[in-house]
Amino acid sequence: MHTSITSENNMTFFVYYVVLVATIIIIVPASAKPSSFSLSMEAKALRISGWWSGNISSANHCELQGITCNEARSVTRIDLHLSYTYPSRKLEYMNWTSLPNLGYLNLSYCFLAGSISDNIGSLSKLTSLDLSSNSQLEGALPLTLGNLTQLVELNISGTQISGPIPSELAAPSLKRFVKNLVKLDMGYNMLNGPMPSSISQLTSLTSLDLSSNIISGSIPPEIGKLKNLVSLDMGSNMLSGPIPSYIGQLTNLILLYLSLNRFNGSIPPVIWKLKNLRKISMHDNLFSGPIPSSFGQLSNLIFLDLSSNRIGGSIPHEIWKLKNLQVINMGHNILSGPISSFLGELIDLTYLDLSSNRLNGSIPPEIGDLTHLSYLDLSSNFLAGRIPWSLDQLTNLYSLNLSANQMDGMVPPDLGGLPSLSELDLSSNQLSGHILNLQFTNAIQYLDLSQNQLIGPLPEKLGQLSNLFYLGLSNNYLNGIIPTGLASLPLEYLNLSHNNLSGEIPIGFTGRHGSVDLSNNAFEGQIPHRCQHAHLKKEEVLHILFISLPLIAIFLALIGFMFLCRAKVKYNQSVARVIKNGDMCLIWNYDGKIAYKDIIAATNDFDIRYCIGTGGYGSVYRAQLPSGKVFALKKLHRFEAEDPNFDKSFKNEVQMLTKIRHRNIVKLYGFCLHNKCMFLVYEYLERGSLFCSLRIDVEAVELGWTQRVNIIKAIAHALSYLHNDCNPPIVHRDISSNNILLNSELEACVSDFGTARLLYPDSSNQTVIAGTYGYIAPELAYTMVVTEKSDVYSFGVVALETIIGKHPGELLSSLASLSAQNIMLSDILDSRLPHPTNPTVVRNIVLATALAFACVHSEPRSRPTMLFVSQELLVCKKTLATPFRAISLRQLLNPELDFT
Ligand SMILES: *[C@@H]1O[C@H](CO)[C@@H](O)[C@H](O)[C@H]1NC(C)=O
Ligand SMILES: *[C@@H]1O[C@H](CO)[C@@H](O)[C@H](O)[C@H]1NC(C)=O
Ligand SMILES: *[C@@H]1O[C@H](CO)[C@@H](O)[C@H](O)[C@H]1NC(C)=O
Ligand SMILES: *[C@@H]1O[C@H](CO)[C@@H](O)[C@H](O)[C@H]1NC(C)=O
Ligand SMILES: *[C@@H]1O[C@H](CO)[C@@H](O)[C@H](O)[C@H]1NC(C)=O
Ligand SMILES: *[C@@H]1O[C@H](CO)[C@@H](O)[C@H](O)[C@H]1NC(C)=O
Ligand SMILES: *[C@@H]1O[C@H](CO)[C@@H](O)[C@H](O)[C@H]1NC(C)=O
Repeated sequence: MHTSITSENNMTFFVYYVVLVATIIIIVPASAKPSSFSLSMEAKALRISGWWSGNISSANHCELQGITCNEARSVTRIDLHLSYTYPSRKLEYMNWTSLPNLGYLNLSYCFLAGSISDNIGSLSKLTSLDLSSNSQLEGALPLTLGNLTQLVELNISGTQISGPIPSELAAPSLKRFVKNLVKLDMGYNMLNGPMPSSISQLTSLTSLDLSSNIISGSIPPEIGKLKNLVSLDMGSNMLSGPIPSYIGQLTNLILLYLSLNRFNGSIPPVIWKLKNLRKISMHDNLFSGPIPSSFGQLSNLIFLDLSSNRIGGSIPHEIWKLKNLQVINMGHNILSGPISSFLGELIDLTYLDLSSNRLNGSIPPEIGDLTHLSYLDLSSNFLAGRIPWSLDQLTNLYSLNLSANQMDGMVPPDLGGLPSLSELDLSSNQLSGHILNLQFTNAIQYLDLSQNQLIGPLPEKLGQLSNLFYLGLSNNYLNGIIPTGLASLPLEYLNLSHNNLSGEIPIGFTGRHGSVDLSNNAFEGQIPHRCQHAHLKKEEVLHILFISLPLIAIFLALIGFMFLCRAKVKYNQSVARVIKNGDMCLIWNYDGKIAYKDIIAATNDFDIRYCIGTGGYGSVYRAQLPSGKVFALKKLHRFEAEDPNFDKSFKNEVQMLTKIRHRNIVKLYGFCLHNKCMFLVYEYLERGSLFCSLRIDVEAVELGWTQRVNIIKAIAHALSYLHNDCNPPIVHRDISSNNILLNSELEACVSDFGTARLLYPDSSNQTVIAGTYGYIAPELAYTMVVTEKSDVYSFGVVALETIIGKHPGELLSSLASLSAQNIMLSDILDSRLPHPTNPTVVRNIVLATALAFACVHSEPRSRPTMLFVSQELLVCKKTLATPFRAISLRQLLNPELDFT
């Protein structure tokens, strides 16, 4: 499912940290004693900037927030990091020429607007300049920046700064920048044009980040001169051409990120010289040629992502000797030949994706030695032979995909019994044998054995797999009857077509089923109408629309099932036009009639009595239709129906959101529109919000520790899905305990996803502060730029709230003090529950709390990704070394958890 891996930042951080500590021993400027005239000029500059309020003079200017002076009361440091004023500060209002002794300037996360003015070049003593994460900062880089020859660190990442990188910045003939600069971060801006070759003059650089800009052209060969580089990130640009072999001179490099560009040519064999490399990311480029066998000398490599290129040839044996590798992604290339049996030596491997290549031969049995593996995708190759039985040793395996190969023989019986296995896709092979031989555990969520040669009746056990939401068994030789349990599972996709199943179709394949295909079997009588709609062609849908559904349309699974939200949704606009006038309800994936007037009747025109909650974007009502079906309706506070374009994109967007299918995400069925009043129609969850459940004592006690851990896991999985598996990624923006809903089994679902995007479609990256007070990430107050990391913060708050039973506001604000860190974890747990005793539960609580603390880190870059969190929660099977009652918050704040 993932063609590329987003690498975590931990390593990058570590490097930055070391670099910073090692190099920024701030050079205190030797200052001549300033005259009282120049001091009053300094005070005047601070006053005129308008950045501080009050009466500023040379008598008090050193006492201003964020200002540090030397003994002569001349300003040496300005540090306004994370300090927020409104209206925003304008950068150019500061007259830098009046601050000759300024050595350190940090204006990151400051809500700065405007542009960088030329006179910043007069700060001749500046060693550190940080303007990062100010989303309203714009304009070009002034050439005078190059006059800051003492600069050690320059960070302007995360702004709107545009234009080319001026080659003059690093011109030695002009004595610019150059010798001292150690860290240069210009990532996440709008810089364009080529990478100037003069950048190679910055010979002290250890870290260069130009990622996520629009930089084009090729990498200048002079890059080889940056011999001190430890980290080089040029990902997400429009760079092209080959990688110059001079890159082999960067022998100190630890991180090399070149992904998401247009690089072509082959990977230069000299890469072997980069013996310190730990992470290489080159995915989504146009690289061709073979993988050089010299890769085998990169013995420190832990992360290798070459996916989505045109790399061919066979995988060199040497790759399988890199014992430190944890992640290998070479999917979506044209690699051929067999998979070496040496792969068994990569015992640290957790992630292996070789999908969509031309690999042949059989899967070596040594794969069973990779006991840490949690993700294995070898799909869409020409692999043949048996599935090795040794796979059943992979007890950490979460996802296994061998689909679209030529595997034959039996499915190893214990494979489905792997304790963590949630996704098993063996479809489109030639597997044979009796399906009754297979084992399944409750962990399984996605099971696809379709297009094989399996025989026998469906196991009764299938009907008890309560987490299953995708079941594909079509095109086999299965017979017998459908197990009754299957009808009550919350399946989203069920395909049993093209078998020889018989008997009666159990009643209960209700509207909860997204897509059901039972065709081409030997069932008694007619297949009920509801089971057929998956086969309707578009024309037939249109036909039905014209004939039987004049104004208010009911869509019965308009387009065939789409499980992955990556799939592009093509919305047929002629369908939309039919129902344009008057009231309309567009409900997908619901096979009953629903009409605007029914909804109005069911809620007595949105009477307050039916209101069950109010969130950031609107109020939620419970509506029971005459058929007995219950929906949740969200009536939006704000809706712009006037703009016809908005109307169209809105429908597309809603339809896209209705495709989102995850068992921990509340299903959105569609929307209704009337008189500019608009409401979204959602699945109804019986137990209401987590917020209420935690505040009502009786309900809080029902939420035991196991349920709470499961709730945290569910939210993590759902967010990881929205962030990583949806294209474009969906940032929720309003995660709070109000938006986590519980069903009758106390399982959690995330609701209200994508609502922000619906309401403010042009503002996909900016937020008109939505979100719920107490859950909003602190940086949003300063930058207004919403990223996945804002959701991560809110998740951390909700996770802590779930563990301690109330909003963790007090806890979070006290954590800064060292004494609070001595508090024991057992003392903050929700006291309404008895302390957990089961070791697994205890371990999970400790892990979840530690992850939650990491998520509420004030620095977004230091927060883990949801993918990381959700995987940690899934795969951690370690046991706790410290007794539960001896664990203090300090230990949890320390990332090195004491697990053995
Ligand atoms: C398995 O791989 C195939 C083809 O590469 C893909 O279509 C399918 O979605 C994958 N299955 C899962 C569960 O990701
Ligand atoms: C790489 O791309 C450039 C155009 O960007 C093209 O001229 C060149 O032939 C390509 N080289 C290879 C090896 O494909
Ligand atoms: C694998 O494919 C190569 C050609 O790419 C062929 O020469 C070789 O015989 C194949 N091996 C097997 C085991 O099919
Ligand atoms: C069910 O599977 C068959 C064959 O495997 C396929 O043709 C059909 O489209 C599938 N049905 C649905 C609803 O996906
Ligand atoms: C399908 O099952 C019936 C018994 O239910 C059997 O008589 C028939 O031969 C089977 N057909 C095939 C093609 O296996
Ligand atoms: C929508 O459906 C109509 C009728 O089948 C067809 O003529 C038209 O090309 C379709 N439009 C799109 C955008 O698919
Ligand atoms: C948001 O960001 C994406 C890519 O990061 C970009 O394509 C899009 O134009 C941005 N939207 C706005 C409104 O800035």
